Amino acid sequence: MSVRRLAPDHVQPASFAFDAANENWADQQIAKYPQGRQASAVIPLLWKAQEQHQGWLPRVAIEAVAKKLDMAPMRVMEIATFYTMFNLQPVGEHFVQLCGTTPCALRGAEAIRKVCEEVIGPQSTVSADGKLSWLEVECLGACCNAPMAQINFDYYEDLTPENFRALLDDLRHGRPTRPGPQNGRSCSEPLGGGETLKDAALYDGTVIGAGDWQARIADQRKAAAEAAAAKAAAEAAAKTAEATPVAVETKPATETAAAGRPKPSEPRQPSGAAQDTPAANGKVSTPKTGTTAASAPAVERPPSPALPRKGGESSGAAGTTAESKPKLLAAARDGKPDDLSLIWGVGPKLATMLNGMGIWHFDQIAAWKAEELAWVDARLTGFKGRATRDDWISQAKKLSTGWRPDSALGDKPVK
Ligand code: FES
Repeated sequence: MSVRRLAPDHVQPASFAFDAANENWADQQIAKYPQGRQASAVIPLLWKAQEQHQGWLPRVAIEAVAKKLDMAPMRVMEIATFYTMFNLQPVGEHFVQLCGTTPCALRGAEAIRKVCEEVIGPQSTVSADGKLSWLEVECLGACCNAPMAQINFDYYEDLTPENFRALLDDLRHGRPTRPGPQNGRSCSEPLGGGETLKDAALYDGTVIGAGDWQARIADQRKAAAEAAAAKAAAEAAAKTAEATPVAVETKPATETAAAGRPKPSEPRQPSGAAQDTPAANGKVSTPKTGTTAASAPAVERPPSPALPRKGGESSGAAGTTAESKPKLLAAARDGKPDDLSLIWGVGPKLATMLNGMGIWHFDQIAAWKAEELAWVDARLTGFKGRATRDDWISQAKKLSTGWRPDSALGDKPVK
């Protein structure tokens, strides 16, 4: 921290007064503050006085500001001597504020300082021609372009003794200069150009849908709402199926006993039961065969307000989804199963689950009717409703023709 004193008397002017334009500007600043709070305008007025007086504040300017604001001169003096943006000594036409803080020091600020001393002279003195003066200051916030200096209102960065010497020469002789990095780089990106975010597609809108982002977001919201509704419906149907005494048909041993394959997660299906197909009218009929059938009373259940009702799938009473067991295989034909994970929404876990149920090929799925789709959907433990939601039947029809999606994840169905 340097000692900040007023300039010696022999350089102090005899008087100071704002010119008409600045007087008007000062009045406008003062008017921004409530009555009795004019002192709040002290810094803007000191700044304007410095600007008018060739970049530095003489004693008479400080006193003029104090008088304008009806403040004690010492109060204004305290402010002017505290803030380093107020120059208390004369400065050159081009006032160099050289950063000497650690990042700039590590990047060569000491060599720049030597150039200042050689070309301009001692710190805080004006060169003989009045063109240049310099002062070492603390960090100016451009450390990523260190070393740097502020000259009047512009930053000059990435300085070297050579380019800085040339810069001072240009300023001294009135030649145009180019603020910013002096080594050719743009802003603070790497020398030689940016190395990231270079893909032109990032800037033409294609990544975010080429201006169609609102429609895309609306589609995403709609898909999410539909998925949530399908999930809720599937869960409700599964609960109903679990709570309903249904007669199911035991799978032939060849459909379920393939060694080494995970077994399907069948809901409680007693051995020897009949077809797993609740009545299409939503009323649950008494099972005709099997252990459960023998013990279950022949009743019609009252309608449940909590159950979803789909047109054509249920009505009136229980509101359950009609199910019918599809054709299943004990093993893949010729030992060559289709890659079911090419169906959008089917991953390795679901594919294994399907194989365990006896589903190995696209054409099996493609042949399903709605009731068979519902049968499978209700048995996708942890994924119930997925087959309906992702329209596996349509996907499988396409895949069974030999068509293949670009992505290994499959082709997301368009709704
Ligand atoms: S250290 Fe020099 S600008 Fe920050």
